[in-house]
Amino acid sequence: MEKIYPKQLWAFMIASMLWMHVSAQGFITQMHVPDTINAATVDLSMDVEFHNFSGVGGESLNVPIKTFAFNSPNLANINTYLGPTLIWEEGRQQIFRITNNLPAGDTSTVHWHGAHIPAWTDGGPHQKINPQGGTFDPEFFVKDSATTLWYHPHGLDATYVQVQMGLAGVIIVRELNDPVGAALPHTYGQDDFPLILQDAFFTQSTTNPDSFSIDTNRSGAGRRILMNGTIQPYLDVPPQNVRFRVLNGSTRNAYPIYIGINENDHLPFKVIGSDGGYLGDSARTVTTLLTAPGIRNEIVFDFSPYAGQNLYFTTASSESPTDSLVVQFRVGSVTMQPLGIVPATFPAHDIYPFDANTKTRPIRLLGKASPPPPPLPPPGAVPFSINNRQFVPSVIDDTVMLGATEVWSIENRSNRAHPFHIHDIQFYVIDVKDTNGTALPYPVEYLGRKDDILVQPGQVVRFVTKFDDFGTPEPFNVDTDAYMYHCHILTHEDGYYLPSAFHAGMMQQFVVWNGVVNRPDAQGIGEGLQLYPNPASDEINLEGESKIASRVRLYDLSGRELMAQDLKPFDGKVSFDVSALPAGMVMFEWQSAQGKFTRKVVIR
Ligand code: C2O
Ligand code: CU
Ligand code: CU
Repeated sequence: MEKIYPKQLWAFMIASMLWMHVSAQGFITQMHVPDTINAATVDLSMDVEFHNFSGVGGESLNVPIKTFAFNSPNLANINTYLGPTLIWEEGRQQIFRITNNLPAGDTSTVHWHGAHIPAWTDGGPHQKINPQGGTFDPEFFVKDSATTLWYHPHGLDATYVQVQMGLAGVIIVRELNDPVGAALPHTYGQDDFPLILQDAFFTQSTTNPDSFSIDTNRSGAGRRILMNGTIQPYLDVPPQNVRFRVLNGSTRNAYPIYIGINENDHLPFKVIGSDGGYLGDSARTVTTLLTAPGIRNEIVFDFSPYAGQNLYFTTASSESPTDSLVVQFRVGSVTMQPLGIVPATFPAHDIYPFDANTKTRPIRLLGKASPPPPPLPPPGAVPFSINNRQFVPSVIDDTVMLGATEVWSIENRSNRAHPFHIHDIQFYVIDVKDTNGTALPYPVEYLGRKDDILVQPGQVVRFVTKFDDFGTPEPFNVDTDAYMYHCHILTHEDGYYLPSAFHAGMMQQFVVWNGVVNRPDAQGIGEGLQLYPNPASDEINLEGESKIASRVRLYDLSGRELMAQDLKPFDGKVSFDVSALPAGMVMFEWQSAQGKFTRKVVIR
């Protein structure tokens, strides 16, 4: 896609004026398939861009509209909406430099939704990136299974607006010994496509009818459904099994999805994966899936009987009835190699063992009826809450023990469905009941490893999970140790309807405690290690456990290296002689495959 400069912008506007009032026709614009970046070191920027959502002559939205997008020097093309597809390889260290080029006021973050990574790299509301050039440099090792994750901003009270403006991208995780990956369709852009399902309200300017904006107040003339940033695109597909990585990247809406020759035709397709990887045991054949904000579903459709025909990806939405046909699939007549199949069996999941003694954490999704505790706004002003608590950025709501298996019970006592999402881990849904304890059918949408599930009003959904890795010592530092859990309706997460002084969204935060309490003169250094004493005169000690090799470096404030030492795996205390160092402030850097941590120490 081309970058649009102001001069071209005028040309677009004049051209679109000539086309106005001609009746709109969909399926003229090719669906955009984001470029991929498969690299260990990735630079990403968040930019203001202008994007054409239509490209259709006669469609009044065929004009450049202000958006936000992720770009990268690693890419040949500029994105005007959304971001590149990042390929992560299992076990590889991913090193990012993220630059926020958004205008003043747009403080942001970048969160790696679904990834099992240390909290300080997770990109929740604490890992702020200042606008107009601020940066964030997370690095972590890929520990996830073969699956589809995604990335998006997660700033305090700013997630809804920034995602709605276009900041979102897909992550494809490739596993080293993927048992079914080679058999499945897996050639990106040929028989393996990301489908980023979103919607937006567009508002026409009152002074210039050719000028539209994405209306983040949701008061625009009508909601339009978007696929990969286009209204009603077409996609050429070969007459064979094709895999779609469907991301519900919409800010608020759940969608049933179908494939058929028209919106009333619901052909069977296979579900092969959900949020955290392949379904256990086998694929499931369905004619529809209900997908809610943040959720990924990998599906395979067999186009071989439809060579030369047009099929559609469809949804049903009372708010956007004109867009129920979302994408037109133009089925070609020539197959592409290799031909993918859906293997008869998938590796079984090892569901974490639990029993009646397993710690259960009750999570209640509450509606307006529950008056919130002070110092919240007046009763009734908070639309929804989790456990009748507000989100207070400095308060840790839950502490889980490192290595613990826990059952979480998500009870929806409000009058609308909420997608419940948790960071750090993937979970398995155990059962679904009503509030009287009567078992309800287990939907296919809950199968597999999940990080996000739509919980219907009046339902209690239990899941089991395990909090491995990334434990931190007490005292906790909320800025580096906290993970979020929240409703993925982004206006609910943000507490969008509230005065900005309150962060009362449907969000809470937890830490994974490794059981260590730091000495008072020590600093936590991530991965459960402590560094002491500070100030130091003869020795600096690093205490804790690292199961892998690491490296320590001391340097002064001008970056001059004073000392460097490689460490073997250790459990206990490692001491460094600093008696010969000049007095003053030094930087102590510890780096392992889990990341890099730097702390200031005063040498006396
Ligand atoms: Cu996709 Cu906490 O978010
Ligand atoms: Cu997330
Ligand atoms: Cu909600």
